[in-house]
Amino acid sequence: MSITPVPRTAVIVVAAGSGTRLGAGGPKAFVGIDEHTVLRHALDGVFAGPLAQVVVVAPAGREGDALTEAYAAAGDARDLVSVVVGGDTRQASVAAGLAAVWADVRYVLVHDAARALTPPAVFARVIEALEADNPAVVPVVPVVDTLKRVDGHVALAAVDRSELAAAQTPQGFSRVDLEAAYAAASEEFTDDAALMADAGHAVVVVPGDRAAFKITTPDDLERARALLAPEAHTRVAIEQPHPLPRVGVGTDVHAFGGEGDLWLAGLSWPGEPALSGHSDGDAVSHAIVDALLAAAGLGDIGTHFGTDRPEYAGAHADRFLERTLALLGEAGWRVGNVSVQVQAVRPRFAARRAEAEAALSDALGGAPVSVSATTTDGLGFTGRGEGVAAYAVALVVPA
Ligand code: CTP
Ligand code: MG
Repeated sequence: MSITPVPRTAVIVVAAGSGTRLGAGGPKAFVGIDEHTVLRHALDGVFAGPLAQVVVVAPAGREGDALTEAYAAAGDARDLVSVVVGGDTRQASVAAGLAAVWADVRYVLVHDAARALTPPAVFARVIEALEADNPAVVPVVPVVDTLKRVDGHVALAAVDRSELAAAQTPQGFSRVDLEAAYAAASEEFTDDAALMADAGHAVVVVPGDRAAFKITTPDDLERARALLAPEAHTRVAIEQPHPLPRVGVGTDVHAFGGEGDLWLAGLSWPGEPALSGHSDGDAVSHAIVDALLAAAGLGDIGTHFGTDRPEYAGAHADRFLERTLALLGEAGWRVGNVSVQVQAVRPRFAARRAEAEAALSDALGGAPVSVSATTTDGLGFTGRGEGVAAYAVALVVPA
């Protein structure tokens, strides 16, 4: 039973964009800044702010990943989280989020996941201004550069920057007014404050924060990384003008005793006793996943494929490895090679080694995978035939 009181505020976190300008090979929300994604950082900021219903608007097909990130950020407040699928434009994504806001909510904040490092204090300032009866609130920062109006290559005149401010998110609105403005909107606006202004509402400003900048280009991502790890970043910049390859190690053990056929090293082994586990118990592929994630600094198999992910119950090696490959790609890594050794008295690998290597390599986009197998001279649990153990080493290189 839920013990969380029903909040008066909802935060819609729009994360359904494709991240074209970042060019990371996948949706921007799932790109890693450090060991956490853009979305996870954004949600950490949301949950550190005032209590609110949190609606994450995810790209189609990535709802499960968005939910994993939201649960990780929510801690004990999981019942505040919902995930919906976004639309083709930011405005369509906000509308999808708005449709999921609970009935009792009075204030709606719309926040770009791409503003991943927004401090919780900005959320509090926006809500405070809403509670003072303003229907629309936008956080802004002063424009610091001298601005020019230009025509092609010619600067025409300076623009008085004292009249200008840069708009950020979260932007906050009275829920009924925002819903009415969305229902009436017949064109695309650059942000929700513009849509509300067009509907005739006064929009007030509160101080934003420089840290709430939007991660749009690769330079922005570098800036976010530097802000999170200033010392590490300086060290890398000085000592590693070119990013180095990285290695990782992973091991896994499963006991015999599962249902059905044995699955090991991406192959099914009819007639052999099955291994037990949440998925198919394929210790070889799980060791490889751990080695790859470790090499890329992305946590481990539990971080991404925990037993709370029903879609991985019974899943085989190809699902795990393809998802791991995608996670690596989003974080800017590709697989160099993988070497894995399995310790088991059975099955006998010799006759199917090449087949196993090909299956695992296929699932990793063609990266070379070497499989070796050994027995342990009758010693230990593998020697007694109680289960199998696998040890993997992976090399990843900057993509
Ligand atoms: N957004 C969204 N749905 C869309 C487009 C954008 O939810 N159809 C979200 C993005 O995920 C982001 C925020 O709106 O958090 C701001 O958009 P932007 O920075 O432009 O992100 P992208 O659209 O992903 O990036 P790009 O324009 O470079 O493709
Ligand atoms: Mg965009």
